[in-house]
Amino acid sequence: MFKGFGRSQRASAAAVEQPALDIKPRHIGLIMDGNGRWAQKRGLPRIAGHHAGMLAMREAIRACDDFGIECVTLYAFSTENWKRPPAEVDYLMRLPEQFFRSEIDELVRRNAQIRFIGDISRLPAHTQETVRRAIQCTQHNTGMIVNFALNYGGRMEIVAAMERYAREVMEGRATVGQLTEAACDRYLDTAGLPPLDLVIRTSGEIRLSNFLLWQAAYAELWFTDVLWPDFTREDLYQAICDYAKRKRRFGAIE
Ligand code: IPE
Ligand code: IPE
Ligand code: MG
Repeated sequence: MFKGFGRSQRASAAAVEQPALDIKPRHIGLIMDGNGRWAQKRGLPRIAGHHAGMLAMREAIRACDDFGIECVTLYAFSTENWKRPPAEVDYLMRLPEQFFRSEIDELVRRNAQIRFIGDISRLPAHTQETVRRAIQCTQHNTGMIVNFALNYGGRMEIVAAMERYAREVMEGRATVGQLTEAACDRYLDTAGLPPLDLVIRTSGEIRLSNFLLWQAAYAELWFTDVLWPDFTREDLYQAICDYAKRKRRFGAIE
């Protein structure tokens, strides 16, 4: 169902300073879409939208932590985004370095643990280096998990999981006929993360675009017309409040 919220309907800033969140998602997935349109509306190049999107992402991470969310997965670059013009891809590959250079101290202070899902090995060497350093700096932290989906695609993740399983069978470490859904979870990039409870997508597009396909099987979905660079902690709070009102039946009856 489409859920759009205009500015006037948004929660007040005061309410989100001290949110009373009884029921909240453990793991939120954010499809941060609309950077290009945000820039276009202002007569700016698309990369200006990506820069503004990075600032919105910083605020979203802070808000998730302040709201006591255990894990947030941020869709930063999909396996399909390589189809974009090389200059845009190049800018997007440099953004992690820009982001961590300014944010790593605060993330460490917040005790956040940085993780990545997706095929990191196909990123430019400098991006891989940034990823490695960010993981290393925060690997012993025990607070919120900040999980970046970078060169990530849900289908690719499932294919890689199947390959891992096949290899284990070939090596005699797994047996055909005994694979369970829970065991499948352990072959995925998200192994060990809390179950995905809520997926938020900005910019008015109503699709998953290859994001956490397996994990989203029973996640709640929340869509807004707000373009990602305009997404605020009030919007996040609104999404979480909405989530709290949902009836999650998982196929059963009440
Ligand atoms: C999302 O914004 C960021 C990435 C996909 C990297 P877009 O760049 O897709 O913005 P729109 O959808 O063109 O407005
Ligand atoms: C999804 O947005 C990917 C990210 C937000 C990183 P896209 O803009 O790439 O998705 P489509 O093309 O609208 O499906
Ligand atoms: Mg888009």
